[in-house]
Amino acid sequence: MTPEGSVVLELDDIQSGVLRPRPTPYVATYIVLRIDDRNAGRELMRRVSSVVTSAANPTGPLADTWVSVALTYQGLKALGVPNDSLGSFAWEFQQGMAARAKELGDTGDSSPENWERPLGSRDIHVVLVTVSPTEQQHEAALERARKTYHEMRGIEAIWRQDCHALPNEKEPFGFRDGISHPAIEGSGIPGTNPKEQPLKPGEFVLGYPDELGGIQRTQPVALGRNGTYVVFRKLHQRVAAFRQFLKANSTDPADEELLAAKIMGRWRSGAPLALCPFYDDAELGANRQHNNDFLYEEDDPAGFKTPGGSHIRRTNPRDAHVAGVVRLHRMIRRGTAYGPVLPEAVLEDDDVDRGLMFAFVGAHLGRQFEFVQSQWINDGIFFGAGDAKDPIVGSNNGAGSFTVPRRPVRRRLQGIHRFVVTRGGEYCFMPGLRAMRWLADLHT
Ligand code: HEM
Repeated sequence: MTPEGSVVLELDDIQSGVLRPRPTPYVATYIVLRIDDRNAGRELMRRVSSVVTSAANPTGPLADTWVSVALTYQGLKALGVPNDSLGSFAWEFQQGMAARAKELGDTGDSSPENWERPLGSRDIHVVLVTVSPTEQQHEAALERARKTYHEMRGIEAIWRQDCHALPNEKEPFGFRDGISHPAIEGSGIPGTNPKEQPLKPGEFVLGYPDELGGIQRTQPVALGRNGTYVVFRKLHQRVAAFRQFLKANSTDPADEELLAAKIMGRWRSGAPLALCPFYDDAELGANRQHNNDFLYEEDDPAGFKTPGGSHIRRTNPRDAHVAGVVRLHRMIRRGTAYGPVLPEAVLEDDDVDRGLMFAFVGAHLGRQFEFVQSQWINDGIFFGAGDAKDPIVGSNNGAGSFTVPRRPVRRRLQGIHRFVVTRGGEYCFMPGLRAMRWLADLHT
């Protein structure tokens, strides 16, 4: 605590990937490891603790080039973490993502039996993530990561996903991404919406007070402190199908762009409908000082500018009147794109895998990630839209609908299909640096 009573985060013990937005542009790789021998796993933790970058020192030589490490519940078990410690972690984490499929809307094409192997299996133990601004720096980061497990008996690299920035920070549907992030008290890292009060650190890091005054603790406390939960999801994007949908439901190219913006809540440039409802403004879209500086309630309660059902208003209703307390469901996102861009104007599916490695960071899996995914994305009751799901990332099945409030009559689109398919994912725990050494020193 400072003399003024505000909390100071121990940034030198918190992994960089928890608090710092990823560099822009970026090159990233996810590597999944299986631990076949607990002593090898502990040695891995020892080595990893010396290559992982902390959130302190944002101007240091490795500030933009990270290696992060996260463990699944099965991974903690494989290290021989005692049962009373295992039982002190969040219940959803103990279950693992595949077991939560129904709640997350991972059904049909997205259901775990259709996931890319070995995702969803009990073999996913450790996830290493390397992120750098350039290919060249990335080679160095990958080499640092590789050294922690290479030629180590008892550790097997079983899955890898390479990711990279697309031009203009866009995600594969063509919208600028990585714009809106919450501010966190005591982190010194600014948020992006000057109208949002910083959130209590316990919303994102274990061991600190959260918005409800509670503190998430594990057994022992040192294991959880300065750690957090991370959700990884490989989300395949049906870009051609999304383009076909836009075309089929618009009268001309300008109308098509407006519909795309109504669905997202932002124009493809990143400019928010809340600030420019009629025309795109590419300059505003790229302006980090202004492109997230807005609320909804005062001048757009009915969603004439930003529909209540659009992706960004659902996933962060800000001050809009919805059931529930928005500040309890905020999330840190770290999306990275994978796969080649579908060339502009192509409407036929080329069968190439492309999408987003979606990562959520937060201390409350249940009331943050799972709540947003199940209530705000896959239901519409919270803002009075019945069972209408998120039009772009929801688990729609061909019967989905989306309403664009309009005068004199609203516009209602029907027959929305699923544009985003889950290919796999997992719930992980991202330990603090000291906790990694605690794991390395286990003697069970
Ligand atoms: C492939 C799937 C997805 C795509 C293409 C996508 C795309 C986007 C884009 C373009 C933005 C606007 C830019 C920004 O504010 O950074 C955004 C914002 C956001 N998305 Fe997604 N998203 C996806 C999945 C998800 C999922 C699964 C969740 C939550 C479980 C989510 C939560 C959010 C949140 C919280 C925001 C910020 C809203 C705000 O503060 O205004 N997104 N997304």
